[in-house]
Amino acid sequence: MVSTGRTHRIIDLATGQLDRSIFVDPDIYAEEQEKIFGRAWLMIGHESLVPRTNDYFHTYMGEEPVILCRDGKGKLRAYLNMCRHRGNRIVRTDLGNARNFACAYHGWTYSNEGELEYLPGEAEAYYGELDRECLRLVEARVETYAGIVFATWDHAAPSLDDFLGDARWLLDINFNRLDNGTEALGPIKWIEPVNWKTAVDNCSDNYHVPTTHLSTIIVQGRHRNIPRLTHEQQFESENKHLFVNGHSLTLRFLERDDQARQTHGVTGENRAAFEEYYRRTLPEAERRLGSLRARRLQLGNHSLFPNGVLGLRLAHPRGPLQTEFWHFVVLEKDMPDELKTALRRGSANYNGVNGIFEQDDMDNWRGVTQSALTRMGRRYTQDLSMGVGHDGRHPEYPGVVAGRYTSESNQRLFYRRWEQFMNAENWEDIPLEPRVMEYEGAATLSG
Ligand code: FES
Ligand SMILES: [Fe+2]
Repeated sequence: MVSTGRTHRIIDLATGQLDRSIFVDPDIYAEEQEKIFGRAWLMIGHESLVPRTNDYFHTYMGEEPVILCRDGKGKLRAYLNMCRHRGNRIVRTDLGNARNFACAYHGWTYSNEGELEYLPGEAEAYYGELDRECLRLVEARVETYAGIVFATWDHAAPSLDDFLGDARWLLDINFNRLDNGTEALGPIKWIEPVNWKTAVDNCSDNYHVPTTHLSTIIVQGRHRNIPRLTHEQQFESENKHLFVNGHSLTLRFLERDDQARQTHGVTGENRAAFEEYYRRTLPEAERRLGSLRARRLQLGNHSLFPNGVLGLRLAHPRGPLQTEFWHFVVLEKDMPDELKTALRRGSANYNGVNGIFEQDDMDNWRGVTQSALTRMGRRYTQDLSMGVGHDGRHPEYPGVVAGRYTSESNQRLFYRRWEQFMNAENWEDIPLEPRVMEYEGAATLSG
């Protein structure tokens, strides 16, 4: 077991001061792989990436290479991409369709149900004495939420439903609106010289948007034909910034119930087509989610603990000073092709490696990471004090709700959640919030 043997106290909730060493310390990074990425439910893909039996898609759980596949019976499975012989990777491609995975080193061959089915010389070289049953592929637990596939290595972890908790009440607004569900395209992949946590804590940082993204907002405002976002609007906004079970969420109120839910890809020219689509699908969404969630609310930026960022998008750790980002675009299957194309293009133009919003953010996360590399930098804590004492329970929404849309409540609580995972012996020590929301409508965890 990788452990620094330390009890981690990195965030002071009363003052908002954060110890920067967590962004660069290699021992802490190694411990995170075990205690966070070895325990939590991690997003690894989407059912639409493996639609047919025997399809597979290569993904990651933290640093671990993982084969997500649909076996011959249609069951979703996730295996460590490691031959049980010497440990070679058995899958070398990004995706495909195969009933068997054969290792290129000595030829051990596994079925997509995880069995070691064949090896050269079993009778002769091994004298028929090899216990093949003990040499199955290492398998993770898999569950899905509305088509998004999650996996955990920890067989004692709570169900995905409990892990998400009432975050699902809000996630449903984006991912569970229609009977036919969603499909994922991508991912766009790229590597940044940043610690993975800098990107996660940024996901519901509403404070940075009018400053960091000023030039992009001006360009986008012209393209979308809307006034530009200002700090004042954010400070006065009724929108919500809230935290449930480690997941950071922002919630916005729709001005009209046919308003386009997306911000990237909707333009002055295509807005009417989006509105027509939302008008047409409202009765179905209302049957599934109830009127409040279908007509009034919009999920804004969010992250799922530990490394799910901005929807189906992954921040895979690659050492304390490097993160590999995977950006998918998730589209409702029923959406007309013209709108899907607009969203796909918008997503790539604004997010992803050459996205104009993305490039604004990258530079900041790099600076935040690098300040923790120097002796003088580490001497001073990071300040996350905004809104201390101004958050709490809310009668209408789940979790801890900040007093204002612009707050660092979610950031403080993200690092507190990090402490809870890092200091826990096992899942029994990790608290889960009780469910309080009423799930109006027919939508369920599985879609
Ligand atoms: S390492 Fe795979 S067969 Fe030897
Ligand atoms: Fe940003």
